[in-house]
This record gives sequence, structure tokens and C-alpha cells, in this order.
Amino acid sequence: MAIPTVRVGVIGAGNVGAALVALLLDPTRRVALEDAATASLEVVAVAVNDPTKPRPGVPAALVTGDAAALAQHGDIDVLVEVAGGLAPAGDLIEAALRRGVSVVTANKALMAQRGTELARLAHAHGADLFYEAAVGGAVPILRALRTSLAGERIERVIGIVNGTTNFILSKMTDGGLDYDAALAEAQERGFAEADPRADVEGFDAAAKVLILASLAFGTELRDETISREGISSVRAFDVDFARKAGYVIKLLAVAQRHGEHGLSRSVYPALVPVDHPLAAVHGAMNAVFVEGTVAGPLMWLGPGAGGGPTATAVLGDILDAARNRVAQRHDVPFLVDDTLERVPAGELSSVYYVSLDVVDQPGVLAAVAGTFARHHVSIQSMEQSGVGEEARLSFVTHHAREADMAATVAELATLEAVDSIGARLRVIDGGA
Ligand SMILES: NC(=O)c1ccc[n+]([C@@H]2O[C@H](COP(=O)([O-])OP(=O)(O)OC[C@H]3O[C@@H](n4cnc5c(N)ncnc54)[C@H](OP(=O)(O)O)[C@@H]3O)[C@@H](O)[C@H]2O)c1
Repeated sequence: MAIPTVRVGVIGAGNVGAALVALLLDPTRRVALEDAATASLEVVAVAVNDPTKPRPGVPAALVTGDAAALAQHGDIDVLVEVAGGLAPAGDLIEAALRRGVSVVTANKALMAQRGTELARLAHAHGADLFYEAAVGGAVPILRALRTSLAGERIERVIGIVNGTTNFILSKMTDGGLDYDAALAEAQERGFAEADPRADVEGFDAAAKVLILASLAFGTELRDETISREGISSVRAFDVDFARKAGYVIKLLAVAQRHGEHGLSRSVYPALVPVDHPLAAVHGAMNAVFVEGTVAGPLMWLGPGAGGGPTATAVLGDILDAARNRVAQRHDVPFLVDDTLERVPAGELSSVYYVSLDVVDQPGVLAAVAGTFARHHVSIQSMEQSGVGEEARLSFVTHHAREADMAATVAELATLEAVDSIGARLRVIDGGA
């Protein structure tokens, strides 16, 4: 029986795009792809910045330098955007959606900023907008939230969604490296960019937690700033303290429900108990841990980046979009829950780990403990280490309000007895 053809245009042939084209053109996959798409997939064009660059695996006849023409007039059913960046990717996607072309993208920055607007545009024009690869690379977490867990009430989502920072923190934990050495190794091995700020300062993870929260809780994807702390101030000493106390330090992307209508979304490095499933996520791997009211704890784990793994997630979306095209339907975007209210960061509470470089003299402990007490932060455990210039105090608190903790740290920094504040990290509870 003849099957319909779904025409696919691709923008971008870099790490992800080149791997995707290879998958789409692989003759050994043709039958499986046709079966899943209920159509024959035809790649009609691959748009790039520089069409003169040699591109092994991408047939020269498909390469074009005119992405705008492909998005605006190309005879295509599905446009795949794997170029990255906010512009011109946003305009290209918008142009395609306006003429009813379904779009598949891996662009987390764009989806975090304009996801809801573009999803509504897609719906208004009878098209799909899928972006599984935007979070967790090959890990199929967005589809799981969108379909399998659609009826579940989710309490919390915790992601290790940035492979670069997880690689660096794993090297600090297992290899005993300090931050600079671990970052240098990540750069040498291609896990970190020459300018690593988007990863190490948590911007990449922030875009991803916004996307996760939108599917888990129904928050809107629009230009929004959330509480974000990176890993560049995590010191070898803190990693070592955490290890001895039964924790590992991970950069977490956390979206959490508070009561009926409260919601928080943040990115921060935290101490994770070694027996928590997230503690076992090593190197550049990604994982998303979901706590459902009825389902209980669930976790997805896998390669969060890399051309091939990311391309498999893009391919899954293309197959979904193709199947919908053939059935003349499209997925309806999730509804935004406008009863949700952002809980002010200062109101959130957590257990904290605080380390201080202190002056090695009598009376220091009393001055420091008094400061904690004045701000209603109670101490669970304390450890004194080092002597002379290396003298340190490390505390684990009981649950404390973020605002109280911030006031404590601000006052500690003014004490003569305190040379510097080393770290102020949250400790996440078991959850497993
Ligand atoms: N790499 C990963 O592991 C990974 C994982 C998850 C998500 N993603 C996302 O996937 C997307 C692509 O990432 P990547 O690593 O494949 O990027 P990349 O290697 O830098 O490739 C970008 C590709 O897009 C092309 N391009 C850039 N601007 C263009 C424009 N204005 N018009 C036409 N083509 C343009 C480039 O052309 P030239 O080749 O001519 O320069 C290149 O082929 C990004 O949104 C990224 O965030 C990547």
C-alpha cells in the first residue's frame, strides 16, 4: 500500500543537525521510520550559515544558505530548527507555524522565553510544536510529563540537566580536583565551552527548569527571570566536607509546588544525600527526578547532550509530528494554570550547609553561633577544621527560611571573627 510522504526541512547541520540528517537518511532505519511516522520521510533541504563548508554525510544537493526561504516558502510539512539562538530562530519558527508547518526544535533558550506564545500560534494554525530535545538531550522527559504523567499531580521535579556542571562537580568529588582544574579538564574534553558562563552560572539549567515546570505544573513559558546560582564558588573544601558527611554536591534545577497554589522554580548547587538516586548521576549524564502524589518517585537518566543522543530526541518528535500530519490532527498545547503563584524566594525554606573561614582565636564560635540564633536559624551540626589561616567552621542548619539565612550570612560577613564566607548551599531531603 502506498504511504504518504511527509516533507522535512532542517535548519542547522552542526552537532545535532548533522547527526539528525544521518539518522533520517540511514537506509537501515527506513522501514522503522516509515512504520513510526506512517509516512515516508523526505528531507528536502538542510539550511546552514555557510553552505560552502564541507559536510560529510549531508548530501550537497540538499544544502542551502537560505533558511528564511525554507521557513517562509519551502514546500515542507515539518520544519526542524537545530541552529540555536533566539534570533533568527524565533522568527523562522514563527514564519513556519503561521503557514501551518509543524515545527520541531531543540532550542531551550527560545522555548523557555517564547514557548507558550509559539505553542498557541502552532495550535491556531493547526500545527505541532515539539521540543523534546530542549531538556535532557536523549532523555524523553518532556513526552513523559506531557502524556504518561498528564493526570498525575506532581509535587516536585528535580533535574540534573546540565552535563557540563555535573562533569565538573563529579571531577571535584571523585578526582579531588579544585574547580579551576575540573573546568579546564571539561574544556579539554569538549564538555565545556571556551566561555562556560551559560553552563557554570546556571543559565542553561534555568531555561530547562522553566520548561520542566511548564509541563509539570502548567506555568507559562515567557520571558522570566528565576532564582539562579551557579557552581563557580563551590570549593574543593565544600565537596570534601559534603563527601565526609554523606552527600555529593550537584547543580539542581528544582520546580516545586507549595500548598495548593504556590510554586517555586530555581537553580542552585545543593548537597544531595548519597543514597538519593540523583547522587548516582555521574559525569556528563542528565537525570530528572519527579515526585508524583500517587505515582511516587520516578527518575529518568541518560545522555543529556551530544549530537547523536540529542538527534534521537529530535527524530522522535519528527515522527510524532509526521504521524499527526498524516492523521490530519495536531496536539493541543497544555493549558496555563493561572491560579499558580510564585512563592517569593525569601519565603522558601531549606536545610543549609554554611562554611566560614574564621580567625583562629577564642570566642569566635560564640560570636558566630549568636548570629545564627539572632536570625532564628538553628544549627543541626557544627565542625571545626584547620588551624591558623586555614581555620574553618562548617555548619548544617535545621530548616530555615531563605530570608533568615541570607540575613545570617550578611551579618556573619561583618564579624571581625569571620575572614570570609566560603559556601552557603542548600541540602535537599531524601525524597527517595
Ligand atoms: N549539541 C548538543 O549536545 C545539544 C543538546 C541539546 C540541545 N541542543 C540544541 O540544539 C541546537 C543546535 O545545537 P548544535 O550543538 O548542533 O549547534 P552547532 O553545532 O553550533 O550547529 C549550529 C548549526 O546551525 C547553523 N546555523 C546557525 N545559524 C544559522 C542561521 N541563521 N541560518 C541557518 N543555519 C544556521 C550552523 O551553520 P554552519 O554549520 O554553517 O555554521 C550550524 O550548522 C541548539 O539550540 C542547542 O541548544 C544541542
